[in-house]
Amino acid sequence: MTAQPVILDVDTGVDDALAILLAVRHPALDVRAITCTGGNAPLAQVVENTLRVLDAAGPGDIPVAAGAHRPLLEAPQHAVAIHGADGLADLNLPRSAQRPEQGHAVELLRRTLADSAEPVTIISLAPLTNIAMLLRLHPEVTDRIARVVMMGGAVGSGNATAAAEFNVWHDPEAAAIVLSEGLDVLMYGLEPFYRVSVTHDDARRLADADDPAPRLAGALLTHLIGIDATEDRVADDRVAIGDAGAVCAAIDPSPLVTRLAPVEVALTPGPTRGQTVVDLRTMVGADITTARAVPPATVVLDVDAEPYRRLFLDALLGATAPA
Ligand code: RIB
Ligand code: CA
Repeated sequence: MTAQPVILDVDTGVDDALAILLAVRHPALDVRAITCTGGNAPLAQVVENTLRVLDAAGPGDIPVAAGAHRPLLEAPQHAVAIHGADGLADLNLPRSAQRPEQGHAVELLRRTLADSAEPVTIISLAPLTNIAMLLRLHPEVTDRIARVVMMGGAVGSGNATAAAEFNVWHDPEAAAIVLSEGLDVLMYGLEPFYRVSVTHDDARRLADADDPAPRLAGALLTHLIGIDATEDRVADDRVAIGDAGAVCAAIDPSPLVTRLAPVEVALTPGPTRGQTVVDLRTMVGADITTARAVPPATVVLDVDAEPYRRLFLDALLGATAPA
């Protein structure tokens, strides 16, 4: 099976780091580039964190570029309480010797898409500012995007606010642009985000590994266990792998329960700003329902989480993964 070409767009962050480690180590993916945006942490920190995670993932020449330092309209708001002061669980990893590309992330996105022999999947794990700017600056490469697998939004309640998920809340206008473009979008929202998890024993096994990639994953998961920021959405003996679950979805969508449904982003200032309104109605067009406003996305409603736990552990632990 030939590896699927992908670009990761990240705001590294603890769970973005788990996603990068999985994507780089899994044979089904060919990571062509990683683009950064501010979000969990300020842009410069996100870039440095991304380079440090790639150092742990092992040798490779994946280009990294800095993109949007803030949302299109909103002021940036970082998630220090979850990701730590440095955005990587304050693990104080050694500064990377690698440096990012000189150009902007949107140029790296454009060039990677234009130069690829086959269309490329964009796995968006952050506020969608870079992707929205790509669509507005370079419409000529839209047909080179195979699909967008976006960790973002929620069918039900949010996490950044009662109504909005963090990535969409951080830059609602960017999310609205991406979701109204008519691209093949897989919306991997908070429902699967909190369901895909590993056990605390899995985290310890990863942290005890000799290989720096699983060892870093274990340290990051141990940090998440310690802060328990998922309210009541994750069982007490488990820890969600967050963004890494969206990478699992890009690798193998079979465990997903999905519906094709339009997703509109609430933009009006107030308690619903950044909410993803998923239109699951089935009687659209009847005299009691209004027409749909935007093209449909493939929305994840639920997931069989165990296959993704196995996928994540097998990729990072290989033969030493638990039976
Ligand atoms: O709401 C969760 C998302 O926001 C994840 O991508 C996390 O890394 C943060 O960016
Ligand atoms: Ca993220």
